[in-house]
Amino acid sequence: SRRAFLGAGAVLGASALLAPTRTGQARVPAPFAPTRTVALKAGEAELKLLGPDRPATRILAYDGEPFRTLRLPRGTRLQATFLNGMHEGSTLHFHGIRMPNEYDGVPTLTQPLVQPGGSFVHLLPLDDPGTFFFHPHCDETGQAGRGLVGVLIVEDPRDPAFDAEHVLTLKDWRLADDGGFLELSEPNGASRVGTFGATRTVNGAVSLNLTAPAGGDVRLRILNVDSTRIMDIGVEGGEAWLIAVDGHALRPVRLDDLPDGVWRMGPAQRIDVHLRMPRDGSPVQVGDYRAADIYHFATIAAEGKVARPRKGPLALPKPELPRPDMKKAERFSFTLQQATDAAVKDIALPPDDPLAKALLDSLCVGSTTYWGIDSESWPTGSRRNVPPPLARMTTGRSYAVEIKNETRFPHPVHLHGHAFEVLSSSLDRLPRHFADTVLVQPGEAVTVAFVAAPGDWVFHCHILEHMETGMMGWFRIV
Ligand code: C2O
Ligand code: CU
Repeated sequence: SRRAFLGAGAVLGASALLAPTRTGQARVPAPFAPTRTVALKAGEAELKLLGPDRPATRILAYDGEPFRTLRLPRGTRLQATFLNGMHEGSTLHFHGIRMPNEYDGVPTLTQPLVQPGGSFVHLLPLDDPGTFFFHPHCDETGQAGRGLVGVLIVEDPRDPAFDAEHVLTLKDWRLADDGGFLELSEPNGASRVGTFGATRTVNGAVSLNLTAPAGGDVRLRILNVDSTRIMDIGVEGGEAWLIAVDGHALRPVRLDDLPDGVWRMGPAQRIDVHLRMPRDGSPVQVGDYRAADIYHFATIAAEGKVARPRKGPLALPKPELPRPDMKKAERFSFTLQQATDAAVKDIALPPDDPLAKALLDSLCVGSTTYWGIDSESWPTGSRRNVPPPLARMTTGRSYAVEIKNETRFPHPVHLHGHAFEVLSSSLDRLPRHFADTVLVQPGEAVTVAFVAAPGDWVFHCHILEHMETGMMGWFRIV
């Protein structure tokens, strides 16, 4: 209940708990916010991905739990200790959370790499309600590709009451017949559309059979945590509305009113969908309709029924995010490109022991460059340096950033530490909404705007192979 949520802070009131103590988007946990302490230990776990009678796969997980899920009330101050129980360096990054830069988890830029056996304490103000996730920010193709991903749900006591809620975390796996992993990245994939997994899962299972009352209101939190795949999420058999993107509420959009009746979602993107179950008790299917063979990942059967079904969508409370001032916004434009031949040659490293490379290379990325942003790639130069910042910005000022895709492939582009407003798309396909990642189609230009928060924040494609072969830059905000 709201009362329990406020707890010790009740005297101060919710607004005091959530009050920013610096300008712009900078968030520092209010001193009296209730603190939750968690330890997240990265290490191996077993999961039967090929079927009950087939060999299990040794995946990576936090605390041995595939897709370890944290559920915390908005206003919590989260103290998360990352423990590295793996044989390679890593860091922990809370994707989409607006936080002090020092807890962002980007090796070299915001902290040193956490070596095997090491740890790092993150202190995060959970100001924004919504569906988030966390993952390593080092050798992501290898670590997240083998399953090292967790889910963070920040609950808002003001949300409407749903009759059921289901979290659906989508990820594919590249498996050999013996349950082991195939090469997680191949040059042909990394330099093009990506290296896909053939074993598709939701919450680590092939598909889910779920229930909800007939006529009832269901909240689906759908996360695309795959390394590569872009999905077209749709619902068959019930009325459904898109009510949040990347955790942030938007005015509900009927899925049927979207192009092809689906929401196209790249790696790292999340949506919340409000589904109203049919009154006649018939089941509902949720799927990815992009590929020729549709992947139905969840079937929701009616169990019981609600006495008085409601009408229309249940909207979530409006996000309380800093709104960019478009009259005063400074404009930037960045172009997503194939890397120049010079950059490719410059960065090429002699092939070496992958383990030694992971331990020694504090940049945590591949040894090849295929991509760039505005003619820069990450890393740059034969010494594998961090490139100069793409932009220098001022804390508290508004910026409009145009992202132009000059390549032949789609790229989901993510900015750390901010929620941006997606203002427009040259292909005119997106409703205005807040997000932390936006999919930019080949030939498309998408403009996003935000109020700058202090720190060094990376800006990268979230197709993990693209990011690790050059499509990453950063903004210095002072
Ligand atoms: Cu999911 Cu650099 O982020
Ligand atoms: Cu990309």
